[in-house]
Amino acid sequence: MYSEQNQARLLEETRKLLQLIKNQPISEICLDIARDIVPKLREVVVYHDWRYYVLNDPVISDFEYDRLFRYLRDIEHKFPELITPDSPTQRVASDVTKVFPEVPHLSRMLSLDNAYSAEELRDFHRRVIQGLGGVNEIEYTCEPKFDGAGIALVYEDDFLVRGATRGDGARGEDITPNIKTIRAIPLKAPLSQFGIKRIEIRGEVLIDKETFRKLNQQRLEEGLTPFANPRNAAAGSLRLQDPREVARKRLDAFVYQITFAEGSGGKNLLGADIRTHLQAMEILKACGFKTSWGAGLCKGIEEVIRFCQSWEQKREEFPYEIDGIVVKVNSIIFQQTLGETTHHPRWAIAFKFKPKQATTKLRRVIFQVGRVGTITPVGELDPVEVGGVTISRVSLFNEDFIKEKDIRIGDMVLVERAGEVIPYVVKVIKEAREGTEQPIKFPKVCPSCGSKLVRLPGEAAWRCLNMRCPTQLKERLKHFASRRAMDIEGLGERTARALVMSRLVEDVADIYYLTEEKLLKELPLRMQQMGEPRPTYIGELNAKKLLKNIEASKNRPFHRVIYALGIRYVGYATATLLAEMVNSIDELIEIPPVKLEQAPGIGPKIAHSIKEFFSLPENLKVIEKLRQAGVKMSKAEMKGPLEGKVFVFTGALSSMTREEAKRRVEELGGKTSDSVSKKVTHVVVGENPGSKLQKAQRLGITIINEEEFLKMIAR
Ligand code: IVH
Repeated sequence: MYSEQNQARLLEETRKLLQLIKNQPISEICLDIARDIVPKLREVVVYHDWRYYVLNDPVISDFEYDRLFRYLRDIEHKFPELITPDSPTQRVASDVTKVFPEVPHLSRMLSLDNAYSAEELRDFHRRVIQGLGGVNEIEYTCEPKFDGAGIALVYEDDFLVRGATRGDGARGEDITPNIKTIRAIPLKAPLSQFGIKRIEIRGEVLIDKETFRKLNQQRLEEGLTPFANPRNAAAGSLRLQDPREVARKRLDAFVYQITFAEGSGGKNLLGADIRTHLQAMEILKACGFKTSWGAGLCKGIEEVIRFCQSWEQKREEFPYEIDGIVVKVNSIIFQQTLGETTHHPRWAIAFKFKPKQATTKLRRVIFQVGRVGTITPVGELDPVEVGGVTISRVSLFNEDFIKEKDIRIGDMVLVERAGEVIPYVVKVIKEAREGTEQPIKFPKVCPSCGSKLVRLPGEAAWRCLNMRCPTQLKERLKHFASRRAMDIEGLGERTARALVMSRLVEDVADIYYLTEEKLLKELPLRMQQMGEPRPTYIGELNAKKLLKNIEASKNRPFHRVIYALGIRYVGYATATLLAEMVNSIDELIEIPPVKLEQAPGIGPKIAHSIKEFFSLPENLKVIEKLRQAGVKMSKAEMKGPLEGKVFVFTGALSSMTREEAKRRVEELGGKTSDSVSKKVTHVVVGENPGSKLQKAQRLGITIINEEEFLKMIAR
């Protein structure tokens, strides 16, 4: 797509433009200058989009990218006559699409035939040989079967003119404005250089596992029902009515097939100029598309089988959920000879991996009380193996989820564990009902304290509003002590329960006032008085350790303190954001709601929840108690020796996990990142480092080994 020379030029151009942006406010730009720099800005932004979204290897910082993008957007705003349809700013369409019109596909969007064993692949091979009249030297391509939402893209004279969903295979929904927000899909591609005038390209829109995990975590924190799997998340996001919402979901896209290609004069290029599937993929790659990575060419079916088996073993290592391997006859002329059935092409087959779904019986439903009083129904299942893990419990999220899926006790349910996340009830097998299944009755009162439950307008959850509810307090305490919060080892379920039951702890701040005396004498005594059959007490050694860990937790980084408070809807990501906005807890208490709402990633719902939290005298009292105990609650108090340093880890460390290493860096005031960019100051190299090392070398970033890292973090 870009020659080295071209890339060097674009980087030089980037530097010049960044300089110009610094010196020239938009107000000083006249139309003549704008005419000159707008095309340059566009070319540079498109190039950096490609580095970031297609190669996953950016060469400028996000901050620099934002500057370029915003400058372009602002000039276009001033001189709208300069806007072109392929400008990167046009990816974020502003108008809301109400309905998606239907459009016919240029060629039918078929399904794929499936193979579940090596034997079925050999059967497929025999059918191919037969269909080709006995030719038996057959080359196949093998590529991941992406588990997302299928799309069809049409380009005319190098411009993306349409993006559609699969629909019924013959006609799909025109979702062009939403497709345009996906930056892995070029708005303009130099297809004419390959003699292509009009083309239809098939691909898949997906969400990587990490983004999926975060998206679901956020949905859970906001009290929404999470998506079952990355596929549903991608498909759901694609059909959102507002393209701005779609853009926020960070969708990704791979292309895997040219289904129609026309040259000038209406010449069909497939099978003529474009003779193999691999060649087709190379053309797309050269035009800036993201083509399936790791596609392999196999001679004969036995090589295909080995490829499929080895990939099934590596399945979890991929950043995307893949559910199989698509095997295709490489020669397009052969493909055309073989043709297709009404359902699938005869030249391709999907080798399916073991499913991550299973059916089992729902035995019982229990109702858990969360730290903000949310009541969550949890289903107990007959244990079943899903994707290598035995599952016996599954969250049913809320009453609406149960109603929508019509889940009853005694039902056979289909559970899925996709993207290595929490198991999820996909559906009820209604055909298996015997008539004895019982509807799930939602409780009217809190199972812990007996208060009347309420369901506030606009919320899916029933809640217990009693701040003194013992289970709520226990959950708040566990959250406060959890790893990403104050990280107090030894304060898990059992200890938290005993501390709350014995009333040694009546709010989270009380833990800082615990003593050995209280833990070793009072706790067992009070538990006994409570009639606890087997008094939960703590040994001398453990009590000492616990107190030491509690003491150490007074110095946690500011964002973790915010997270630990357990403000509703404020998850780890939001807490981190808040810690960037304010310097201390007092500033956070005082911050006007409008300022909160304006911050990216914080909507009115979160802002309201934060304000509500700090308006309750009980909460302010707890914060005061924490402060009195010596818990650090501002950034100034936290300036550590690693202040201003940004670390990236690559390869395995031998003395600690990567998570621990990251935590240590943060505790000492430093930051960490998952990818190498110019912002990064140190790259720590462990065993078997990945591509981050080369990148760091290229950017001239300081590279250190584990030993040197340990020295830096030693107090
Ligand atoms: S080729 C005529 N290649 O799987 C072309 N499909 O279950 C046939 N899919 O409808 C499709 N990854 O949406 C092809 N590497 C890949 C694929 C792939 C995922 C989807 C596609 C198809 C569905 C069939």
